[in-house]
Amino acid sequence: MKTKIILDVDPGHDDAVAMLVAAKHEKLDLRGITVVAGNQVLEKTLRNALNVCSFAGIDVPVYAGQDRPLFRDQVVADDIHGETGLDGPEFPESTRQPEDKSAVDFIIEECLKYDKELVLVPTGPLTNIALALLKEPRIKQGIKEIVLMGGAYGLGNHTPSAEFNIFVDPEAAHIVFESGLPITMVGLDLTHQAKAYPEVVERIAQIGSPVADLVVELLKFFGYTYKRVFNFDAPPLHDVCAVAHVIDPTLIKTQKVPVIVETTRGACYGRTVCDFYFRTGKPANVDVALELDQERFWDLVIDTLKKY
Ligand code: RIB
Ligand code: CA
Repeated sequence: MKTKIILDVDPGHDDAVAMLVAAKHEKLDLRGITVVAGNQVLEKTLRNALNVCSFAGIDVPVYAGQDRPLFRDQVVADDIHGETGLDGPEFPESTRQPEDKSAVDFIIEECLKYDKELVLVPTGPLTNIALALLKEPRIKQGIKEIVLMGGAYGLGNHTPSAEFNIFVDPEAAHIVFESGLPITMVGLDLTHQAKAYPEVVERIAQIGSPVADLVVELLKFFGYTYKRVFNFDAPPLHDVCAVAHVIDPTLIKTQKVPVIVETTRGACYGRTVCDFYFRTGKPANVDVALELDQERFWDLVIDTLKKY
């Protein structure tokens, strides 16, 4: 039986690859793609999502979500993803349009159809997910789990303390992490184990399809910015790790611990405080991703891209 998911994205180079994997893997039933402001403003992340769907022939409805965080000022990651949010490849003009329904209303409507069956996979800021929970708390009945790319128990990336997706909307993240729903946090500690080194890029290039060639172009730009900003020798495919975990949970080792999102404004604003020693006395509420089986991860990604 396929796993029903909603993918909530802010494309974003790694979001784009996550979309390609989620749309094609036989174990997933991608019910819809919801878009949020994050790596770039919503107008751009929405256009990017539609362009990727149009280019790859992904016949999944796309919904426009929130164009700003719940409370704080807007932050984008143009230093990493460029002015368009998906710099690098040139996309043919897309005729794809988003659905009329909002992302939040689609999430609510879809969750209410099921009984603990739907997996939410946010790979951007958690604004859409938080608002859906606030607007209709009953949606919890339909959600099996939330597998999110975000956070870190070690270093942040957008600040020394905070990972980008959480930093963009810490209050939304707090709402999600305190929801009581089963949450798997696929943070930077894990996703930095998913760096697309040249040998991986070469395997993708060998596929020789327009979609594979698109991914190679995306990784080329992503690799350039990760070298310039973080001096990384290869770009980490953060968001794909969350999708891969839903497909095959054996790929990632996790540990369930208390995680608190810091929402006071200061040097640690947006930090996911992971209590591995249970010093807070709080209940363990999050499965934190620790270790990636890199070889099987890349085999899954490449085998799925070959299906286009
Ligand atoms: O910190 C990495 C995360 O922020 C990824 O989801 C990337 O796409 C950006 O949204
Ligand atoms: Ca993202």
